[in-house]
Amino acid sequence: MALAENSESNLFPENAVPLANWNGQEMPLDEVRVSVLDRAFLFGDAVYEALRVYAGKAWLCAEHMARLQRSLQDMQIECETDRLRERMLATLEHSGVKDGLIYMQITRGVAARTHYFPPQPTTPNELIYVQKFDSDPYAHLREAGAAVVTFPDFRWGRRDIKSVNLLANCFAAQAAREADCTEAILVTPDGRLTEGSHTNLFGVKNGQVMTSPNGHHILPGITRGLVLRLAERASVPVIEEPLLAEKLQDVDELFLTGTTTEVLAVSSVDGNSIGTGTCGPVTEKLCQAYKDSVAEWLEASM
Ligand code: PDD
Repeated sequence: MALAENSESNLFPENAVPLANWNGQEMPLDEVRVSVLDRAFLFGDAVYEALRVYAGKAWLCAEHMARLQRSLQDMQIECETDRLRERMLATLEHSGVKDGLIYMQITRGVAARTHYFPPQPTTPNELIYVQKFDSDPYAHLREAGAAVVTFPDFRWGRRDIKSVNLLANCFAAQAAREADCTEAILVTPDGRLTEGSHTNLFGVKNGQVMTSPNGHHILPGITRGLVLRLAERASVPVIEEPLLAEKLQDVDELFLTGTTTEVLAVSSVDGNSIGTGTCGPVTEKLCQAYKDSVAEWLEASM
């Protein structure tokens, strides 16, 4: 049979197919095959993690593994995270990737389709793959900042679980793309800015950093956690309170954090400039603190 235009064989440029580990077996990512009865395919019944790789090492590995364990527990999926961690690190090493991203997904496994969890124990399907970055995907925005749009937050009530149920996030990211923007900031019906489609959100007012507190309404971002620690270390005051849509024009600076985004200034929201419309001094300070912290960690792990 002829391969369709969007066949997996066309998804990656030659020699750039990520190395995958599928249930303990290494293979090119485009050779992994999964049953249509996998509950991730039928229900989005799976959790995932995405980790940044710098100099061939997995950044903030312990934090990501701890969050994965919490997601698995909350979803009642049985999976040994120490074993996964070892497998992930071995796959990273075998991939030879120095700068990139590790994606890890654990599904509840294959079962006859019922909405309730399968009564007979299933074997989780475990996917890991390592994707190479040729350069920082946000390099062109680091100084100028990113334009973002607002979008209604109509996601489910357990956004703290890192599940692959990301359709509302995809809608938001698509709205950003259609507006030629980098990210969409999600707004609840009562006007709170929760986070981005795949980032956490921070504001700065009179030198004080503000961000939504952790809870069921946002993902407890690993980069968010690091930035809060870095702010404390740099004596930048932080208040964990939700940012409000109606106060957006009053903030001096706005920035996003995330595994691939790192710390990224926001230049405008829905076409309205934020502060000076470029990367402000507090954001700049935290960007530098992030870079320093990666450098310190790499030096310490040599
Ligand atoms: N997304 N909020 C949401 C909804 C996210 O999906 C992400 C990460 C973040 C930032 O979390 P962290 O700092 O742990 O990366 C916040 C990943 C990168 C993704 O979906 O690919």
